[in-house]
Amino acid sequence: MSVETELRDLASEIAREAGELARRRRAEGVHLAATKSSIADIVTEADREVEELIQDRLRAARPGDGFFGEESEPTAGETGVTWVVDPIDGTVNYAYGTPMYAVSIAAVRGGADPDRWQALAGAVYAPAADELFTAAREHGAWLGDQRLAVNGSTPAGALLGTGFGYDPATHDGDLATVRRVMPMARDLRRSGSAALDLSYVAAGRLDGYFERGLKPWDHAAGALLVSEAGGRVSRLGTAAPRPMLVAGGTEVHDRICEIIGDET
Ligand code: IPD
Ligand code: CA
Repeated sequence: MSVETELRDLASEIAREAGELARRRRAEGVHLAATKSSIADIVTEADREVEELIQDRLRAARPGDGFFGEESEPTAGETGVTWVVDPIDGTVNYAYGTPMYAVSIAAVRGGADPDRWQALAGAVYAPAADELFTAAREHGAWLGDQRLAVNGSTPAGALLGTGFGYDPATHDGDLATVRRVMPMARDLRRSGSAALDLSYVAAGRLDGYFERGLKPWDHAAGALLVSEAGGRVSRLGTAAPRPMLVAGGTEVHDRICEIIGDET
């Protein structure tokens, strides 16, 4: 077994346990804990509790690793491995009782900067569907025991996913981007969970995905899933405040970059 597959198996086991906790808490009723960057950007008590569970399990299994999660202060490690964690991606769906939410856990080498890290392993677990997407560097991407591959050509147009940030001031710009991309699309989905959008690209349930302003924990595991499923992932405009993430099979990825590359 390689380091990457060991990290993947640990991420998978913890993602399942964490997802189970999120699902249970959801059934008991959601309690808002706070709002963050804007009134639409919420955190529930479950987000915090689930992140604590993930951090405890990782600390017990790999005490020297760093931790970089959405709901807590980052901690540096001494092994070179950092865990990048979104305890509940799709928190607004979660709060509304919509099943598109997931636990996302990735292990990276090289710290908390997506431009510098090398993703080693990742797991995205969607409790409501009981679906576990996993990947280990150079060992492929999987949904359960089924190996994943991105879609190739899209003769009927590409089925694309996207998302919008929480700050209303950014909506006009994001909608203008959607308008430019639409001519290549057969349709557009906005699921509310970037981690699941990327998992769906890996699984061929979407042909491509683009979104500006994601945080590292939104895409750490999902981007590895896409590349291990034979797809391509780029971050455009990394010097700008809201870099654009583009993912898809090569053809769709390249076409999206061609259409919106000049915006970043
Ligand atoms: C959000 C989701 C959403 C995306 C937002 C993210 P959160 O994460 O991934 O799909 O459009 O940009 O912030 O807040 O639910 O963890
Ligand atoms: Ca998120």
